[in-house]
Amino acid sequence: MEKTSINIALAGFGTVGTGLQDILQNNRDWIKKRLGKDINIKKILVKDLNKVRTSIPDPHTIFTNNLEDLTEDPDLDIVVELIGGKTTAYEIISRALESGKSVVTANKALLAEKGPELFNLASKNNLGLYYEASVAGGIPIVQTLKESLAGNRIKSLTGILNGTANFILSEMTHNQIDYDSALGEAQELGYAEAEPSLDVDGFDAAHKLTILIRLAHGEDYPLHMLPIKGIRGIDPYDIGKAKDFGYQIKLLAQVKEKSGSLQAGVFPALIQNDHMLAKVDGPFNAVLLEGNAVGPIMLYGQGAGDLPTGSAVLSDIMSLVNKETGYNNTGFVDSNLPYANMLQAEHTVFKHYFRFTVKDRPGVLSILSGIMGEHNISIAQVVQKQESEGQFVPVVFLTHSAQEKDVQNALQEINELSFVKAPAIHYVIL
Ligand SMILES: NC(=O)c1ccc[n+]([C@@H]2O[C@H](COP(=O)([O-])OP(=O)(O)OC[C@H]3O[C@@H](n4cnc5c(N)ncnc54)[C@H](OP(=O)(O)O)[C@@H]3O)[C@@H](O)[C@H]2O)c1
Repeated sequence: MEKTSINIALAGFGTVGTGLQDILQNNRDWIKKRLGKDINIKKILVKDLNKVRTSIPDPHTIFTNNLEDLTEDPDLDIVVELIGGKTTAYEIISRALESGKSVVTANKALLAEKGPELFNLASKNNLGLYYEASVAGGIPIVQTLKESLAGNRIKSLTGILNGTANFILSEMTHNQIDYDSALGEAQELGYAEAEPSLDVDGFDAAHKLTILIRLAHGEDYPLHMLPIKGIRGIDPYDIGKAKDFGYQIKLLAQVKEKSGSLQAGVFPALIQNDHMLAKVDGPFNAVLLEGNAVGPIMLYGQGAGDLPTGSAVLSDIMSLVNKETGYNNTGFVDSNLPYANMLQAEHTVFKHYFRFTVKDRPGVLSILSGIMGEHNISIAQVVQKQESEGQFVPVVFLTHSAQEKDVQNALQEINELSFVKAPAIHYVIL
C-alpha cells in the first residue's frame, strides 16, 4: 500500500534547518496538494541537546545527538544533511546512503571535494543525493541545469555566487567606504562570519562553481585545480576608478567552453554598468548562462538565509517524493484542477498614467482633478505643456493606486467634456 506520509530526519537545526521546518509547518496543506502526502520531521540531530531553541518543531519530533538514530532508523525515508563541514556531514551522508535512504544536502564544501565519491555511492545504491541548496541558496540553478536545460551545451556560465563578497563590493561602490568598514558592516548584519575567509577569499564561490561545472559540462574540474582570487583588501581607489570608466567590480565565478577546453575560475572583474550582473547588489546572487539552443538566461534571487535556502532544500525533498509517485503533469496530485477564484477586472488596483488632449484655457486642470477626486483617484503628479491660450495641449497625470472601476468611470466622464479633443491615453504603472 502506498504511504500517506514521508518521514524525514534533519541533521542540523540551525539557520537552514529551522527555515525548512518553518516552511513545512506554514505550507503543510499546499505541500500535500502537490504531493498527496504529508512530510513529517521524525528526528533532528543536533550538537547540543540543551540549547534553548526558538523554532519549535511538531511535538512528536525527537531530538538526538547520536547520528545512528538517523542512519539506522528503518522508518526514515530521507535524511537531510544541514550541518555543514566535512567530517560528521560526510559520515551522515555516506551512512544514510549505505542504509538505503536518499539524501538531501546543502553542503557545497563537501560536494565540491567529495562529490564524485558520494554520487557514486548514491548510484550504486540506486538512491537520490540532491543538492539544490548547495549553490546560490534559493535560486533553482541545479534543477535548471539538470532538467530544464538538459539538452543544451552550456557555452558559458557566470555567477555572482557569494552574497557576502557581493555585499562588501556593493557597499564600497555605492557608499564610498573602505574594505574593512564594509566587511564590519557585513559581519554586523550577519552576512559574514567572524572569520570571513571562505567568503572573501573566493573559496565558497569556488565550491559552488565546482558543482556547477559538473552539472553544466558533465566533467569534473577538481577544486584544487581551479584558479581562485578573492576580494580581500580590495582598494577603494580601484573601485572608484572602475566607476569613473562606467564599470563596477564584482566577484565572479565563471566557466566558458573554449574549443573543447574549459576556462574556469573565481576572480574579481570589472563589469559595465549596463550589464545585467552589474544590477545584482547587496547579498543577492545571480547566474547568467548561455545555452547553445536556448541562448542567454539569467536567474536572480537570494543566495542565503533561512527561508530561501529552506525552500531549495524542500524542493529536493519534494522531487525525491515525486520520483516515487510517478508522473506529476500538472505539478499537483490532481490532474483536474479547480477553477481559480478570479478577481473581476473592475476590482484590480494599479497606479495610472493618463494623457488628456485638452484646450488650453483657465480652469481645465481643476475640472479634470475634480472629476478624478469624485471617483476616488488621488493625483501624484501633473505635467502640462504651456501653449498660447485656446490651443490643444497634452496634460499628463500620474495617480496613486486606484480601482479600475473608478478609473473607467472617470475616463468616461472626462472623454465627454467639450474641451477634450481626443479619448484619453491610459496605461497602468507597476
Ligand atoms: N545559512 C545559509 O544561508 C546557507 C545557505 C546555503 C547553504 N548553506 C549550507 O547549509 C548547511 C547548514 O548551514 P546553517 O547556516 O544552517 O548552519 P548553522 O546555523 O551553523 O547550523 C548547524 C546545525 O548543525 C548542528 N551541528 C553542527 N555540528 C554538529 C555535529 N557534529 N553533530 C550534530 N549536529 C551538529 C548544530 O547543532 P546545534 O544547534 O546544537 O548547535 C546546528 O543545529 C551548511 O552546509 C551551509 O554551507 C547555508
